[in-house]
Amino acid sequence: MSEILSGQICIVTGASRGIGLAIATLFKNEGAKVYGLSRSAPSADIEWISCDVTDEASIEAAVAAILQKEGRIDIVVNNAGITRDGLLMRMKTEDWDAVLSANLRSAFILSRSVSRIMIKQRSGCILNMSSVVGLHGNSGQSNYSASKAGLIGFTKSLAKELSSRNIRVNAIAPGYIETSMTNALPDAVKESLNSTIPLARPGTTLEVAEAALFLCSNRASYITGVVLNVDGGMGM
Ligand SMILES: NC(=O)c1ccc[n+]([C@@H]2O[C@H](COP(=O)([O-])OP(=O)(O)OC[C@H]3O[C@@H](n4cnc5c(N)ncnc54)[C@H](OP(=O)(O)O)[C@@H]3O)[C@@H](O)[C@H]2O)c1
Repeated sequence: MSEILSGQICIVTGASRGIGLAIATLFKNEGAKVYGLSRSAPSADIEWISCDVTDEASIEAAVAAILQKEGRIDIVVNNAGITRDGLLMRMKTEDWDAVLSANLRSAFILSRSVSRIMIKQRSGCILNMSSVVGLHGNSGQSNYSASKAGLIGFTKSLAKELSSRNIRVNAIAPGYIETSMTNALPDAVKESLNSTIPLARPGTTLEVAEAALFLCSNRASYITGVVLNVDGGMGM
């Protein structure tokens, strides 16, 4: 069986669980050398570098360690993310800052760092994990949706900036995917979410990972600057 990412050096942030772990595992099974960056260790056999993506020095140290070992970085998936939900008038400034830092600033710091390497290589691929909420908004998630909408603008700007160096930049906008992030939702909210999904069920982490695999592989060699919805039709 051919391995789609054979020999590719990949970084996946937020690979300790959920969507990031599914991406890291699938990429590894497809022949990539995957480095998972997160604060806690992955629950599967993924090469792990302890990293807090809100800390610039922590990101720079991880990139330097990988570059020293591998000599190149081919694929980066900016997946780490958090929620700190609340209605605007009650939202604490620290909850706004925490979400923007973990979800958006982190992608800026890591992408800036690896873009210097990818520009020299004249090849690379960056994938940002946005959300349907970044496209459509959601009551009680103004911080989260701002971070996810920010990732979309960031993706398109980087795609334009880096395309001449053969670096592709895309985003995925998942809908409602079953992970620890969504398990915390009350059952009534889960049921009402399901009723808004044309495919009438939550997505799996593997379904997001398969889309990530496509966008990060040569099968998507002519695709840059897109936002791919993986949402069972929720965003239609
Ligand atoms: N689940 C959904 O329905 C859904 C829908 C749309 C978009 N998304 C997006 O998909 C991505 C993954 O979500 P998920 O559902 O898989 O969430 P999850 O199960 O809560 O996992 C989040 C991951 O992010 C990592 N992370 C959080 N803060 C971090 C930090 N400061 N430094 C390093 N890593 C950090 C966590 O690792 P540690 O805690 O070990 O550091 C964990 O691996 C997120 O960006 C999320 O916004 C999810």
